[in-house]
Formats: sequence, C-alpha cells, structure tokens
Amino acid sequence: MSGPFAAPPDAATRCCAVYGHPVRHSASPAFQNAGLGALGLNWRYLAFEVRPEQLRAAIEGARAMRFIGLNLTVPHKLLALEMVDILDDSARLWGAVNTIRFEARDASGQWQPLRQFETDIPAEVRAQGFNTDADAITRSLSEDLGISAAGARVLLLGAGGAGRAAALKLAADGVGELFLVNRTPRKAEAVAAEIAQRFPGARCHVGYPERPVDLVLNATSLGLNAGDPPPLDERLFPFQRAGAAYDMVYRPAETPFLRAARQAGLRTANGVGMLLYQGAAALELWTGRTAPVDVMRQALLKSVYV
Ligand SMILES: NC(=O)c1ccc[n+]([C@@H]2O[C@H](COP(=O)([O-])OP(=O)(O)OC[C@H]3O[C@@H](n4cnc5c(N)ncnc54)[C@H](OP(=O)(O)O)[C@@H]3O)[C@@H](O)[C@H]2O)c1
Repeated sequence: MSGPFAAPPDAATRCCAVYGHPVRHSASPAFQNAGLGALGLNWRYLAFEVRPEQLRAAIEGARAMRFIGLNLTVPHKLLALEMVDILDDSARLWGAVNTIRFEARDASGQWQPLRQFETDIPAEVRAQGFNTDADAITRSLSEDLGISAAGARVLLLGAGGAGRAAALKLAADGVGELFLVNRTPRKAEAVAAEIAQRFPGARCHVGYPERPVDLVLNATSLGLNAGDPPPLDERLFPFQRAGAAYDMVYRPAETPFLRAARQAGLRTANGVGMLLYQGAAALELWTGRTAPVDVMRQALLKSVYV
C-alpha cells in the first residue's frame, strides 16, 4: 500500500493530532505520520481546526477518545496552560504548551503515557503539558548553522511569541550578548526586563549592536508575504557585520532576508529545522522512542516545498 503505513487504519489504531486555527497549512501530519510509519506504529496523526473557545472541549474529546497526545499551534499555546492537569517543567519554564501527553496510572499507581496501555485503559486519564519549541530553536541553530548559544553574540529581530521564546532560551543557554530589535520597542523592552529578572547574568540590550555579531536571527513574521519590508534595517546594521543568518520563516525556502544574507557571504538556514525538532521531540514524548529524524525531515521538506 502507498504511504508510510504497512496497513490501513483499523479499530486498534491510536491517534495523535494537532489543533490550530487556522491549521490547514500545517506540515505536521505529513512528517509526523512519516515518523510513526517508520517506527512501525499503528497510529495516525491528524489535524483539526479548533477555535480557541472550543479548545477545552476539544482537549476533553481527545482525552475521552484515548488519544495518545496532541500538538497545539497558534493561537492555543498560552490558553492550554490552564487546560491541562499538570505542567512539565518545560511548559512552566517557557510559559506555553505546544505538546500534550495523555497518561493513566499503571498497576503500581504510577502515571504512564497512554502508549503503555493497549487495552483496558483506566477511566482516569490526565493531560500533561510540555513545551518542545524552545529546545528546537537552539537545536536547529546548532545542527543547521553549527552555532551554540553559549557565548554567542546574537542580534534578534522580533519580540512576539517566537522572539520572546528565542530570547529567553538563548539567555538560559548562556548567550554571550543579546541585542533585541522590534517594530514596537516596548515589547522588546518587556522581553529584556523578563530576561534581567529571570537570568540576571545575561547581557541583553534593546537596539542594534555597534560591533559584529555571530548571528542575526529573524523572529518577525516579515518575509511570509511578497512585498513585506525587510526585517533588518541594513542602514543601521549591514549583513556584513554578522557571521550567519537564521530565519524562522521557512516559506519560501529562501526568504528575501536569507537571500540578502547569502549574497553578503553569510551562512544561512531557515526555520524548517525548528519545526522538525519540536515535532521530533513531541514524537519522542509520545512513543518513548528515538524519532526517525531523517525520514521526518524528508517528509517535511516534501510537504512544504514540493
Ligand atoms: N519555524 C518554526 O517552527 C516557527 C515557529 C514559531 C514561529 N515561526 C515564525 O516566526 C514568526 C513570528 O511568529 P510569532 O508567533 O512570534 O508571531 P507574533 O507573536 O505575531 O509576532 C510577530 C512579530 O513580527 C513583527 N512584525 C509583524 N509585522 C511587522 C511589520 N510589518 N514590520 C515590522 N515587524 C513586524 C511583530 O512586531 P510587533 O511586536 O511590532 O507587532 C512581532 O515581533 C512567524 O513568521 C512564524 O511563522 C516559525
């Protein structure tokens, strides 16, 4: 049969899903199903359009139907903090939930992921919330650009949800010096204040740096649409003063930001790695097995670019 699975779904098939609004653009089903198929699991990963006001009911529905777990994307990650039974340290630390794992008690009373119960799943099932987004940022910087946060000088453009998460994660990982630039300066100032409070040793400033940086990181949404203004003001900071450029935007594969960076001689990577690694970490939380990252990457690239 075609596709990643050895057999069609049947009455024993277990489900995972992503909830979002909108969700139609999501590449997660393509690469998560490739991963599940490669692991030989009779599971399926689906995508559901869920409005924020129905998120709680949708999570309860998945719990009642004994789903293995969920991913949450825009606009659900903050709302879900109040809708799960327990938060893993990752969700508490980063203040957002992008992955839920359903769990039940085994014979000794220990909470175990639902994958461990094939039949006779106990009536009491809890939802544990995790965050795999923050680690995915630094894993992608490391694997795709060879850049470690520790000691690096970074210019970060954008202070929305993704920019804030990147800034906090870089600070947590010992960034050498971090410069925050955002269209709305008070948002960058708020992120800098949060870093000062949570990571007092971190060197974080608002505004463009005067000296060169190792990395310029675009965490704005600019580049998604043709005709967007550039996220970097090259009059204030020319690309030539950076060693590498990373764009969280990954459609198109080479955004105008990355093209300009490449033409200036920088090493470049787009945000497809972030998407891949947050998903691979979720798959590992659900399955307890190492994610087949290469298979997942191929399926992701095919889904996004072919
Ligand atoms: N690769 C991945 O896996 C991944 C994961 C998460 C996010 N992303 C991407 O990262 C980007 C940001 O996501 P987000 O969740 O942080 O979104 P968000 O919370 O809506 O933040 C948007 C950011 O873009 C800035 N911005 C938007 N329009 C602008 C304009 N016309 N001029 C200047 N700045 C502008 C905003 O500045 P203001 O604060 O001034 O509005 C803000 O900093 C999106 O493109 C998203 O697709 C990728």
